[in-house]
Amino acid sequence: MAILVTGGAGYIGTHTCIELIRAGYEVIVYDNFSNSSPEAVRRTEEIVGQKITLIEGDILDKARMQKVFAENKIDSVIHFAGLKAVGESVGIPVKYYHNNITGTLLLLEVMQEYGVKKIVFSSSATVYGMNNPVPFVEDMPTSATNPYGWTKQMIEQILKDVYVSDPEWSIVLLRYFNPLGAHESGTIGENPNGIPNNLMPYITQVAVGKREILTVFGDDYDTPDGTGVRDYIHVMDLADGHVQAVKYAERHTGVEAVNLGTGKGFSVLEVIHTFETVNGVKVNYRIAERRPGDIASCYADVEKAKRLFNWETKKTLEDMCRDSWNWQSKNPEGY
Ligand code: NAD
Ligand code: WQD
Repeated sequence: MAILVTGGAGYIGTHTCIELIRAGYEVIVYDNFSNSSPEAVRRTEEIVGQKITLIEGDILDKARMQKVFAENKIDSVIHFAGLKAVGESVGIPVKYYHNNITGTLLLLEVMQEYGVKKIVFSSSATVYGMNNPVPFVEDMPTSATNPYGWTKQMIEQILKDVYVSDPEWSIVLLRYFNPLGAHESGTIGENPNGIPNNLMPYITQVAVGKREILTVFGDDYDTPDGTGVRDYIHVMDLADGHVQAVKYAERHTGVEAVNLGTGKGFSVLEVIHTFETVNGVKVNYRIAERRPGDIASCYADVEKAKRLFNWETKKTLEDMCRDSWNWQSKNPEGY
């Protein structure tokens, strides 16, 4: 069973390849390295102890994708490829819409051409928008507040329409909450370009001495300690969730949105303090204004993932903090 993994050289993609290979799948990674490097795949090969088929290619390059489908017997696609920085998407919306949406449309055209009708798509908790109460349940109304979020929202709609047009499709829309951590080897992990936007890479870069101080965005939210609450999920649990989603798609047609989270929220201060305790390092921080667009609390209702996939997370916030630090401290400059 070969799975085409678009964006498979990236943070979540590499970790998912490990779990797919462990589960017995053959993996074909297709990535243009716009936010990753072949080195990440090389290290993933080291972890799994076997070669991974790696194709440098763009989802905007239809001819190249046709060649990949023509030359390989692909059963399912896991579609990670996309640009993902919320702030950047506000500055360069056309690039985000083109890359994420046009790229997905071209991928779907090629899948239709080759009769491949199973896809697991990387959506995001961002589609729950600003107005839903927590925990977020899959049938709540969705919305977006920035171009990145709109691309997720629109691709979900496109995929729902594809299923309506052809009920032989199996489509899983995975709504990830906040992935953290790294493979326990510490050889692969999250490797943001430039100044990190997300909390954990910022914490690890402060801890390793690359950045001076972490800014905590607001301590006046309606949460237990006033700082933002999020559902942090270990990337290896997330990776396993993809294997279960692929298996589900093999057995069922339809289109299903499924949350991948732990169902528990932790505040920014809880993450910082857990990181300090588990790793025995200090993280300098200061409280500042809220970041525009942030919500107070975001965590998942995880009942559907359990019911459909028989999947739930195993790892703790302590594991996430330890593994993020293991990766960063062993690789202060990334790959
Ligand atoms: P990542 O940037 O590490 O991985 C994305 C990969 O896609 C990169 O390797 C990049 O080079 C590749 N890519 C981008 N555009 C491409 C194109 N046109 N053609 C081929 N390859 C292309 O990001 P990630 O954190 O691993 O995220 C994977 C997916 O999950 C993305 O779609 C992202 O939007 C989604 N997601 C991520 C998070 C998160 O917090 N990390 C949360 C929710 C959803
Ligand atoms: C987490 C908490 C911040 C940085 C983003 C995307 C979302 C999804 C996951 C892709 C918040 C606080 C952060 C910092 C801080 N990605 N924070 N100082 O915003 O929940 O979600 O990544 O789909 O779409 O929006 O994640 O890690 O940026 O923030 O205080 O330097 O940490 O305010 O409460 P977020 P995050």
